[in-house]
Amino acid sequence: MTVYPKIVVTPPGPKARELVKKDEMLISPSHMRFYPLVVESAVGCIVRDVDGNEYIDFNAGLACLNVGHRHPKVVEAIKRQCDRFLHYSNTDFYYREVVELAEKLVEITPGNFEKKVYFGNSGTEAVEAAIKLAKWHTRKQLFIGFINAFHGRTIGSLSFTASKPAQRRYFFPLMPGVTHVPYPYCYRCPFKQTYPDCHYWCVDFIDEFVLQKYVPPEDVAAILFEPIQGEGGYVVPPPEYFKRLKKLADKYGILLIDDEVQSGMGRTGKWFAIEHWEVEPDIVCSANALASGLPLSATIAKAKIMDWTGGSHASTFGGNPLACVAALAVIEAIKEERLLENATKQGTYILKRLEELKEASEIVGDVRGKGLMIGMELVEDKESKKPASEKAKKVMLRSWKRGVAVITCGVSTIRIMPPLNITKELVDAGLDIIEDVVKEVEKEKQ
Ligand SMILES: Cc1ncc(COP(=O)(O)O)c(C=O)c1O
Repeated sequence: MTVYPKIVVTPPGPKARELVKKDEMLISPSHMRFYPLVVESAVGCIVRDVDGNEYIDFNAGLACLNVGHRHPKVVEAIKRQCDRFLHYSNTDFYYREVVELAEKLVEITPGNFEKKVYFGNSGTEAVEAAIKLAKWHTRKQLFIGFINAFHGRTIGSLSFTASKPAQRRYFFPLMPGVTHVPYPYCYRCPFKQTYPDCHYWCVDFIDEFVLQKYVPPEDVAAILFEPIQGEGGYVVPPPEYFKRLKKLADKYGILLIDDEVQSGMGRTGKWFAIEHWEVEPDIVCSANALASGLPLSATIAKAKIMDWTGGSHASTFGGNPLACVAALAVIEAIKEERLLENATKQGTYILKRLEELKEASEIVGDVRGKGLMIGMELVEDKESKKPASEKAKKVMLRSWKRGVAVITCGVSTIRIMPPLNITKELVDAGLDIIEDVVKEVEKEKQ
């Protein structure tokens, strides 16, 4: 029986270093790699690099492989589709794969109302479609977004993205009309308040200091939010937050756009993370894990909102048939293998272990998450809460060198997001390494 992880050469090994050198010569330097992991193959929760090292995948290909790498059902569906047809622009013609997938998606998306689906190819496209749809339907031009958000890098979605200056530098002017407000990041409350004594001031603030002062609510099309901020640091809002936000939106007739690109498709133990807050958004954006690594996104809206007419929006490859059958297989696998339950079970266990680590450690400031979307925020010390970005980087790199492909988010948060079908044995093997490395880094003087 193979025991994972398996490190045979200290990474990056010679083959990995060679490939990275070529990559640096040829590939756009705008990419920001976490570390030189060069993939040769992958299966389930294990990634093998070109030098023969085998890692436990604690990032699931950036939350894209919720059913694991090369799930047999997904591979089989793609192979079958390869023998039928690979493309026939759904913007101009018809095929059943998009319709079958749309049928399944409207079933699993929150909200007991009729829905329609727009298919694109990436997270940013799902968000662009949502922004355009909100404008088209409401004929309004203003939006509310959140500080510390990530929604993508094309000009529309970038106008909302606000977690790192590098994402926006030199790209102005962006889409006009977006006002950013603070996200409910309770560990580092932007208003220096404490939950629950704050009485959700972060929601009242939007009303009293934004909508009533300088962003006329009758001109606001929508509020765009992540139910859990992903790239911003796996920030989980408090229990009543979204109910209150919805009440505010309803007060002024503003739409809610829920960006589930990272948190959706079962990641948090529910099909979509917003279900934890029991709120039904008007528009939901899905991508990453939708087609298990194939490029596909979906913007799912109330049917009465998705009322734009022919020619108003489309994308040649959107709803590619290979990606659609892969997505159908993903939904089937999540249901049949009860992966929402497994995400909840393994996630609860991981949170418990990390809470114990937090108690024993001076540098683990906060542990938070839902299902298998878990963040561990590192600090210099618990009193100052100063973000320990160098320490987080060390924990990430050393964990990788010891066989756990884990990554960071926000300023100093380690994010744990393995495939939803991960076993307890692999969770334990991965956490043992991460915990060990945290203790090692804590002992070292900066
Ligand atoms: C919440 C969220 N929205 C949008 C995006 C953009 O997705 P893409 O990189 O596929 O354009 C991401 C990517 O990580 C994301 O996490």
